[in-house]
Amino acid sequence: MGRWRSAEGRRGNDLEKLMRLKDRAAIITGGAGSMGRAQARLFSAEGAAVCVADFNLPGAEEVASGINAGGGRAMAVELDVRDLARWEEVAAAAEREFGKVDTLCNIAGANFRVSFDDQSEEMWQVIIDSNLTAYFLGTKAVVPAMRRAGGGVILNVGSLGSIRQGAMSPAYGVSKIGLLGLTRSTASAYAKDNIRCVLISPGHVDTNFLRGNSSHSPNDESTDIDVPENYRRRVEATPLGRMCTPEDIASAFLFAASDEASMITGSMITVDGGAAL
Ligand SMILES: NC(=O)c1ccc[n+]([C@@H]2O[C@H](COP(=O)([O-])OP(=O)(O)OC[C@H]3O[C@@H](n4cnc5c(N)ncnc54)[C@H](O)[C@@H]3O)[C@@H](O)[C@H]2O)c1
Repeated sequence: MGRWRSAEGRRGNDLEKLMRLKDRAAIITGGAGSMGRAQARLFSAEGAAVCVADFNLPGAEEVASGINAGGGRAMAVELDVRDLARWEEVAAAAEREFGKVDTLCNIAGANFRVSFDDQSEEMWQVIIDSNLTAYFLGTKAVVPAMRRAGGGVILNVGSLGSIRQGAMSPAYGVSKIGLLGLTRSTASAYAKDNIRCVLISPGHVDTNFLRGNSSHSPNDESTDIDVPENYRRRVEATPLGRMCTPEDIASAFLFAASDEASMITGSMITVDGGAAL
């Protein structure tokens, strides 16, 4: 539900929607992905300029050009979130283009859904680097621009793994529960700079993360939600009776980014249809 105000000289039902992110400038990592693109579109529709960052540059460009074609303001950049030097270039490019950066959404992530026995050191390292260390690096790279902007909001994406650990993919749970600590640490360190930090933890979300065989998140017959049994299992694990959509998650990010959440920092918001209960 949005807040609405009467437009100057409005006629009939012609209402002007309040832009909840008017004049804001956001960097969204994983912006070519399912959640990232839903969020980039919603943030743009709510008035923000968005820097769509991903190591999939063609995907990021597609999202940014769609937003620009619809009258929004977006740029696309290639970013591997594990690379601090590249992070600093991206933060500088977004600040140059938009005049400031006041919002960072850390969404890019990786998982290898194998057992503890089968998780190699290399898999462990990719997951920890992509889901945890990268969020620390992004925060460090963007905070100076936020200080220059007079404040900001950093939003990290968690998971059910931020709440409980399963038997599979130990690094994924460790990375996502680690984000609870990183979110609190960031919130404590930068409150004096008027920078908030919030962890948004989705449950089972119908996205490409859970289907297909991408290099950052491979699936097989036992995990791919294009297999009806796997889809059904995730729905059954969700008390509200359906999987979350990327838009469900984007709405929570919008709230947490907006001034409506101006006293929320260091907290976790769970968007899981009750899956963690
Ligand atoms: N889908 C779910 O059920 C679910 C649930 C909880 C949390 N999450 C988290 O949501 C986030 C986004 O997932 P999604 O579901 O939109 O998946 P997705 O696969 O559609 O999107 C992930 C995006 O991240 C990008 N990416 C991966 N590693 C990167 C790197 N090192 N540098 C830059 N970009 C990189 C990919 O190119 C992709 O565009 C992940 O952090 C994931 O852990 C997903």
